[in-house]
Amino acid sequence: MDMRQSVAELLREAARAAFPQLPEAELPQPAMLEVPPDSELGDFAFPCFRLSKALRMAPPAIAQQIAGAANRPEVASAQNVGGYVNLFFHRANFAQNVLEDVLARGRDYGREPENGRTVVLDYSSINIAKRFHIGHLSTTMLGNSLKRIYAHLGWRTVGINHLGDWGTQFGKMIAAFKRWGDWEMVEKGGVDALTALYVRFHQEEEGDPCLLEEGRAWFRRIEEGDPEAAEIFGRFKELTLKDAQKVYDLLGITFDSYNGEAFFNDKMGRVIDELREKGLLEESEGAFVVDLEAYKMPPCLILKSDGATLYATRDLAAALWRKDTYHFDKCLYVVAYQQNLHFRQVFKVLELMGYGWAKDQMEHVAFGMVSYEGQAMSTREGNVVHLDELLARAQEKALSVIEEKSPGLPGKADAARAVGVGAVIFTTLLNSRIKDIDFWWDRALNFDGDTGPYVQYTHARCCSVLRKAEDNGAAPDYRALTDDEAQAVLRLLSRFPEAIRQAQKDNEPSAVTRATLDVAKAFNKYYYERRILDADAPGTKARLALTRAVRNVIELGLSLIGVKAPEQM
Ligand code: ARG
Repeated sequence: MDMRQSVAELLREAARAAFPQLPEAELPQPAMLEVPPDSELGDFAFPCFRLSKALRMAPPAIAQQIAGAANRPEVASAQNVGGYVNLFFHRANFAQNVLEDVLARGRDYGREPENGRTVVLDYSSINIAKRFHIGHLSTTMLGNSLKRIYAHLGWRTVGINHLGDWGTQFGKMIAAFKRWGDWEMVEKGGVDALTALYVRFHQEEEGDPCLLEEGRAWFRRIEEGDPEAAEIFGRFKELTLKDAQKVYDLLGITFDSYNGEAFFNDKMGRVIDELREKGLLEESEGAFVVDLEAYKMPPCLILKSDGATLYATRDLAAALWRKDTYHFDKCLYVVAYQQNLHFRQVFKVLELMGYGWAKDQMEHVAFGMVSYEGQAMSTREGNVVHLDELLARAQEKALSVIEEKSPGLPGKADAARAVGVGAVIFTTLLNSRIKDIDFWWDRALNFDGDTGPYVQYTHARCCSVLRKAEDNGAAPDYRALTDDEAQAVLRLLSRFPEAIRQAQKDNEPSAVTRATLDVAKAFNKYYYERRILDADAPGTKARLALTRAVRNVIELGLSLIGVKAPEQM
C-alpha cells in the first residue's frame, strides 16, 4: 500500500469517527490528499471544503474535528489550518513507511494494476526518404516516454509510427532514380542518396519539362500498384527504415505498428462515402471540403479537384481504423504544434460525423521547436542537424568527460553511450513540452546542472556507496533519518508516484524528469551533510536503506523517460 493510500485510510477512519452521518462517498480518498509545498505545513493535507455542504459546517470546524479523531501511533500531530487537516508524521515512522514501501516494490514503485484501458500513441512518424533530423527529437522521445508512463499506470499501449510514405514527391524520386540512379549508389548512400536525387530533380525540372511528366507518371503507377513502382518505392522505404532503426536502437525505442499514410490508401472510400451520406461534403472549386466556418476554422480539404486525397483524409481514415482495431480509450498525436490546426480540423470533422469519442478521447500532444546552439532549424537553408550525428557527437563528448573523470572505468564505451544519449533525452524532456528547446552541448552534458549526466552520476554514487557497505547485520533504526535533509529526500520519494500520475494526466513527461531531478538534488544535499557509513550499525543500516531507495527511484524515473542508469561512470 502506498503512503497516500494509508494516509487516506487513516483519515477515513477519523472522519467516520468524527461524523458518523457522513455518506461513504464523501469520505477522504487518496486523490483528495494534497502534499503541502512547504514541509512546515505537514506531510499531507486534507481539504475539508467539499464536506461543508453535506455537514452544514464551516471547513475549519470540520478540519478540527477530523484532526481530533486522527490519533494513530504514526501521527505526530494533526491540526486544522484554515480548513485543512494538516498531518505530521513521526519522522522515524514516516521514514520506515516510505522506505519499506519503495524497497518492497522496487521497479514497480508507483505502478498501478492493469486498468483495461488502451492508449494509442502516434509518435516519431517519420517521412520516407528524409533523414531523421533534430526536429524529430521531441516527438520520438516524448512518445516513447509517454508510452512507458501509461504502461506503468496499467494501460495497454499501442505505439504507432505513422509513416509519411505517401505523396507526389515519391513519384519524382522514382523518376530521378530511373534517370540518374542505381541500386548500388542508393544502397551505399542511404537516405542521403535519395535526398540528393530529389534535389537534382528540382534543379533539372525547369530546363526539362518531360521530367515533371515522368514524375507524375511514376506517382500514378505507385497509386495503381504497378509492380515496378511498388518494388522501387518499397526499397526506398526499407532503406529509410533501416537508417531510422539505428537511431531507435540507440534510444531503445520500439513500435507496435508502422502503418502510415500509404496503408490507408484503400481505406478512404469509407470516409468519403460517410461524409457524403452525412451531408458534410461540399464542393468548392472542383474540390471537396468539409466546411468548418461555424467553428472558426478554414475548410478541411478532403479531395482535390483531380480526385487525390490529402493528409487530412488519411488521418480521418486512420482514426476510424485505429478505433475499430484497437478500441482505444485515448489516441494521442505527438506532433509539433505547427500542426495544431490540422488536428483541430480532423477532430472536429470526426465529431461532426457523429463520433463523439473524438472530442474526449483524441488529443494532439503538441510541442515546441528545437533550435541548435542558438540557430533555428531549417531544411531549406541546409541548416539541419541529423539525429544520428547528434547522438554520435553526444557519445563522443560523454566519453571524453568520462576519460577525464574516471580513466580506469571498465566499459567506458557503454557508459558513454548511456550518458551521451541520456543527456540528449533528458534535455528534451526537462521542460514543459510546449516550450521551445534550445539545445546547447555545454548545458546538456554538464555534470553539475539540471542534466541527465548529473542524475545518472547521483545514481552511480548511490551504487558506489552500496557497493562499499558491508552488511552489518543490524536491524535498521529509522531514528537515524529524522534530520531535515533525510526527511526532504523521503518526502520526494513518497511523492514520486504522484509525479507519474501527473505526467500521464497532462501528457507531460517533464513531471517525471523534474521529480527524478529533485530526488537526485535532495540526495546530494543529504550526502554532503551527513555520513552514510558510520559507526552506529542500526543507523547506518537505515541510511543505506535510504540510499537504496533513492537509487531505485532514480533508476525508475530515468527508465520512464527512456534513459539508462549505469552503475558506474
Ligand atoms: N509525418 C508527419 C510529419 O513529419 C507527422 C505525422 C503525424 N501523425 C499523423 N497521424 N498525422 O510532419
